Amino acid sequence: MKAKLEQLKNQALEEINNAADLKELQEIRIKYLSRKGELNTIRRGVKDLSPEERPIIGEIANKTAEEIENSLEQKHEILYKQNLSEKLESEKIDVTLPGDFIPYGKQHPLTLTINEIVSIFHMMGFSLIKEENSPEVETEYYNFDALNFPPDHPAKDMQDTFYTINASNLLLRSQTSNSQIRTMEKSAPPFRVISPGRVYRSEAVSSRKNNLFHQVEGFMVDEHVTFGDLKGVLNKFTEEFFGQVRPTRFRTSFFPFTEPSVEIDVQCIICAGKGCRTCSQSGWLEILGAGMIDPNVLRNVNIDPDKYSGFAFGMGVERLAMLKYAINDIRLFFNNDVRFLEQF
Ligand code: DAH
Repeated sequence: MKAKLEQLKNQALEEINNAADLKELQEIRIKYLSRKGELNTIRRGVKDLSPEERPIIGEIANKTAEEIENSLEQKHEILYKQNLSEKLESEKIDVTLPGDFIPYGKQHPLTLTINEIVSIFHMMGFSLIKEENSPEVETEYYNFDALNFPPDHPAKDMQDTFYTINASNLLLRSQTSNSQIRTMEKSAPPFRVISPGRVYRSEAVSSRKNNLFHQVEGFMVDEHVTFGDLKGVLNKFTEEFFGQVRPTRFRTSFFPFTEPSVEIDVQCIICAGKGCRTCSQSGWLEILGAGMIDPNVLRNVNIDPDKYSGFAFGMGVERLAMLKYAINDIRLFFNNDVRFLEQF
């Protein structure tokens, strides 16, 4: 039995010595030292020995176990360090390599333009519309009637406005002016509100027209608001938006909800008034509609027109962005072509 143990030990030490990696070492440990391992198999025979032999062989068996254990530990240490340095070598990071290119997102040019317009009016004390006061699905009343459109106004025609099939008077709003009525009917003056949003019109799509586009509406109502206030606010706006003081021109116009009404032109930003293709040789670019709020509209929202007055304006966001960034086709805003979008 002594010889058997000696042989087992030598065999184990040799295998340990030759072990190539930690996994192999673990297998050797199981093979020799586990409960069902080879050493225990021999030990189980100790009980059949004579009483004199038992302690001697028992001790040799313990010693053998101890030696194998020591040898395993030593080898473990060696293999572990070897493993670590191999890893450090192979997983070395070259900090001089260029990084992966990760394209970053950008704001859509319409978002940029809306944010810029809104922040200019913020500066002048206007606050942003409450979302619930500016719905895109609207009734005929808020989109037209309360804004003083007569019942037979051509804009109410199905050829110009998208009606829903859910109810005869439900439509996709054709203008952001609905937000004036919804805001004013809920509280009392003074108001200074700016209201951006999507609008819809049943129109043939072309380079200049899309049937979805964006407007920014604004209005101010208080005691003693005059046309002078309108001019001051909107001149300041064009100056800030186009980046320099430019001549503006207020042309008389007509909107059902304002009286008097104007359309505002800014001197052409391309040719500075000399005449070019962008301004159709006129030297002027129309940028927004505005006017003093019609007393009928104030009455519709229970505001006394003898006490209060106000002005309102509305502008097309795509048109302003096209002028500012020299974009020649409105459809570019909606095609989501990154070659276009990444330029902003
Ligand atoms: N709602 C008008 C449109 O869609 C734009 C407009 C003009 C809005 C004059 C106004 C305004 O508030 O006073 O063409």
